[in-house]
Formats: sequence, C-alpha cells, structure tokens
Amino acid sequence: MGKKKSGSDQFDEFYQEFYQTRWTTLKESLLSPKSHVILKNPYHQGALENVSPFHDLPNLYVGSEELPQPQGEELLPYYFLDGASAFAPLALDIKPGDKVLDLCAAPGGKSLIMAYALRGHGHLSANDKSENRRFRLQKVLRSFLPPEIYKDTIRITGFDASSWCLYELEAYDKILLDAPCSSERHVLDSPTHLLDWRPGRTKRLAANQWTMLASAWLVLRYGGRLVYSTCSLSPLENDGVVSKLLKKFGEEVLISKPEIPGGEPTEWGTILLPDKSGQGPFYLSIMEKVKTLSDKS
Ligand SMILES: C[S@@+](CC[C@H](N)C(=O)[O-])C[C@H]1O[C@@H](n2cnc3c(N)ncnc32)[C@H](O)[C@@H]1O
Repeated sequence: MGKKKSGSDQFDEFYQEFYQTRWTTLKESLLSPKSHVILKNPYHQGALENVSPFHDLPNLYVGSEELPQPQGEELLPYYFLDGASAFAPLALDIKPGDKVLDLCAAPGGKSLIMAYALRGHGHLSANDKSENRRFRLQKVLRSFLPPEIYKDTIRITGFDASSWCLYELEAYDKILLDAPCSSERHVLDSPTHLLDWRPGRTKRLAANQWTMLASAWLVLRYGGRLVYSTCSLSPLENDGVVSKLLKKFGEEVLISKPEIPGGEPTEWGTILLPDKSGQGPFYLSIMEKVKTLSDKS
C-alpha cells in the first residue's frame, strides 16, 4: 500500500494543477505579510498625515509610516483593511438612497465603505450568521458612523445568507456577497489547518457559496447589482460558483469584470493575486439582474 499523502502535499497538488509553474512563486507570496490600506472616516474631522491616496479611491489611503490602531469611545478616525478587498463594495457603485444588503458582513470593513457611499441616505442591512462576529460588526459600525447616521441607515441582522430568499424577494438595489471561503493565506499560516487540508474542503465551500449566491440572486431586484467576492485562490469557489448562476438564471445575469490595477481577468471576474499585484488573493465578479422576455411575460 502506498504512503498516505499529507494535507500539505494534497494542498500543493491541488493548487499546482490550476496555477502550474506559477504555484511556487504564488505560494511564496502568500506567506509574506499582507499589506493594509487606511480607510479614513469621512465623518471624523481630523486630517491624516504621511498618507497618499490609494488609486484615488474615496477615503482610501496608504501610509508611509505605521499608524497606531485607533481606540476609544468617540468616533474613530480610520480603519485598516486589505486593499484588494476595498474593490468589492466600490464595484457596487452605491448611490445615496440605495437599499443595500451585505450578506456576510463581519467584521465590517466593506460595510463601512458601503455606509460611507450612502452618505446618510438609504439603507444598509449588514448581516452575519456568527453571533461573535456580529458583535464585532456592530462595534465597528458604531465606532465609525455618527449615531444619527447609524440609527437612520443601518440594520444589523443574523440570518443564514442561504435562506434569506425565503423571507424577501427582489428587495435590494445592491447586494454584496463576500462569501466565507478557503482563505488559503490562513491555511498556510496554520500548521493544523494545512495538515488537515483535503480537496473536499474547497468543494464543500463552493457548494455552500452556491446556495448563498442563488439566494442572493432572488433577493436582488431587477435592474440591481450584485458583487460576489472571495479571498480564495480556488477556481471552484470563484468562477465555478458564478458559472452555476449563469447556468441556472441564464440571460437574466449580465456579468462584467471589474477593471482593477494589478487585477487579472478570469472567465467571469477579476482576481488579484499577491505575486503579481502585491494584494489579495481577492476575486470579484459583478452581476447585473436584467429582465428577459420570459421574465416579462
Ligand atoms: C469573508 S468573511 C466576511 C468579511 C466581511 N465582508 C468584511 O469585509 O469584514 C465571511 C463571513 O461570513 C459569515 N458567514 C458564514 N456563513 C454564513 C451564512 N450562512 N450566512 C451569513 N453569514 C455567514 C462568517 O461569520 C464571516 O464573518
């Protein structure tokens, strides 16, 4: 009988099959520390020093020096987040007045970007199934939004994203599904996770992501926009999930691939990989819900 392959070997084998000769450098880049950008709180009066704009995106900066983690009871001045992930909420093109849903929102960096885009007009439902993480989400949103804006525009919920469609249909203008995923950076960081890794992990996650995306699609109104994102390298969890949506809902789904500095086009989206862009991994796909002839009848 042959020797059983370790989780680490199975992990390498799985990703090497997709990324081929690139895998060695890609894996190395995943082991290097993640870079962060600074999301400035537009409701906070203080100016930021020694920072420069991050691709001219609203409220986003990179620092030339390390800033301390802000703390306290008052409105906080800035929030750190992964630069690549900021592109997902921005791809929704949120306008004041929109009704917005963030299905997997905790700890809340992307929800904050969405709340800032509303400029106090409209509505953001920030949802997360995990009670602990929801507690953190609420703390983040309360610490970075003035109380009256929080009260008028934010609702925090704790539903299972995959069954949201049982309660509301065609209800939101913009939806972000930043799905729980393989997060290979974390796997590589954790000897126990790596030891236990099996291809079944990404297959299970992809099945779970698909139930969430199918539900999100039914909750999106016609003419609305949905962004699906993950921080996974696995094509099963990225284009694989989007292609299932196309198969089920056909012409109703209008896909566009966000143009992002350093981003690489995939079949149905764009991926930022750290060996090339210094950011990510982060995958995103933009979907518009359009009425087809059969929807109209
Ligand atoms: C990738 S993280 C979200 C990160 C978040 N968007 C941010 O920018 O801070 C995925 C989140 O999905 C939540 N989650 C997992 N399964 C869920 C489900 N079935 N329904 C709703 N939330 C879920 C997890 O608790 C986790 O907080």
